[in-house]
Amino acid sequence: MELNRRTVIAGAAAAGLAATTLGAGSAGAAPGGRKPVREPFGKLADGTTIHRWSLENGGTRLKVLDWGGVVQRLEIPDRHGRHANVSLGFDTIDDYVAKTPYFGALIGRYGNRIGKGRFTLDGRSHQLSVNDGVNSLHGGKQGFDKHVWDVEPFTEGPDVGLHLYYTSVDGEMGYPGTLRTKVTYTLTRHGEWRIDYEATTDRATVVNLTSHVYWNLGGEGSGTIEDHELRIAASRYTPTDAGLIPTGELARVAGTPFDFRRAKPIGRDIRAGHEQQVQAKGYDHNWVLDKGVTAKPEHIATLRDPRSGRTLKIATDQPGLQFYSGNFLDGTLTGTGGHTYRQGDALCLETQHFPDSPNHPAFPSTVLRPGRTYRTTTIHTFGT
Ligand code: BGC
Repeated sequence: MELNRRTVIAGAAAAGLAATTLGAGSAGAAPGGRKPVREPFGKLADGTTIHRWSLENGGTRLKVLDWGGVVQRLEIPDRHGRHANVSLGFDTIDDYVAKTPYFGALIGRYGNRIGKGRFTLDGRSHQLSVNDGVNSLHGGKQGFDKHVWDVEPFTEGPDVGLHLYYTSVDGEMGYPGTLRTKVTYTLTRHGEWRIDYEATTDRATVVNLTSHVYWNLGGEGSGTIEDHELRIAASRYTPTDAGLIPTGELARVAGTPFDFRRAKPIGRDIRAGHEQQVQAKGYDHNWVLDKGVTAKPEHIATLRDPRSGRTLKIATDQPGLQFYSGNFLDGTLTGTGGHTYRQGDALCLETQHFPDSPNHPAFPSTVLRPGRTYRTTTIHTFGT
């Protein structure tokens, strides 16, 4: 099927995902927030115009591209009410197309790595696109971050938001099944940013969607996040091999630099020399959340910047959290504020199923079958 705006929406509607929000009139006035507005952001090489949507509610300002569902800016106030953009990003579409740090992007079909880009499902083996040494990272060479999404604005009571649609055809990047995906970004009147992910398939497949915002609560380009205090409600994590593929072990964090059960500055143990840190050049691991998979999102992590007072609380229904301390930022990328980004200038907190789950039967399953709907929610609550 040729994918264009009409067929993607028709496909989404046929899959029962589109609900009530499509079409004209969906962007009415919101009592609590500002109606989402759209402006051109740039053009792809083939002439396609990429748009940027601006949303505001409860003190939070969000700018989102229809390219990769990218959060291009996210502004929140500090303890004095001064806003700063706390998310790393680029100013031009060319940078988003050419470079691959996944700044602010939606990640699919599979967040993080699948070892050798290979897995077997129902007796059939699948070879995925490989883009990280021998492994497949964040969906392969052209993951969900490198596609145009169809975006529909909505207002619902005091909430404002965007529905984003993308249909990934059978065989794309090696994955079986046509996957129809709907992601909803909502800004609530309290300034929370909520992400709801939904997907259906027509053949058994694996799915693990997430968001790849790089946080610096002091403001993007303001320097290191090593002073930020982090708490993660996890007693175990998944150690990896040299290619950052989980070994399968669920190791205890107690007595190691991986213990964030009580809030501590990220920099406190980052140079402890633990072999897992040496291998990953810092933190780049999946924490096994104590709560496991839950029916509803539960609060699992808090990030706090003592200088600005800004805090971020994350709630999710997912079983894992990838904490990546920006290890591979090497000073070669220049961001929205005109500063180059260096190692540790931001961190990612990606709610997810465990990396390489399709090759680890003991990990919670990431298999999606026809007739079922993949649903997961992550909520970001900002404060001071
Ligand atoms: C991964 C890192 C990877 C980064 C890409 C993170 O989610 O855990 O290993 O380098 O994404 O920017």
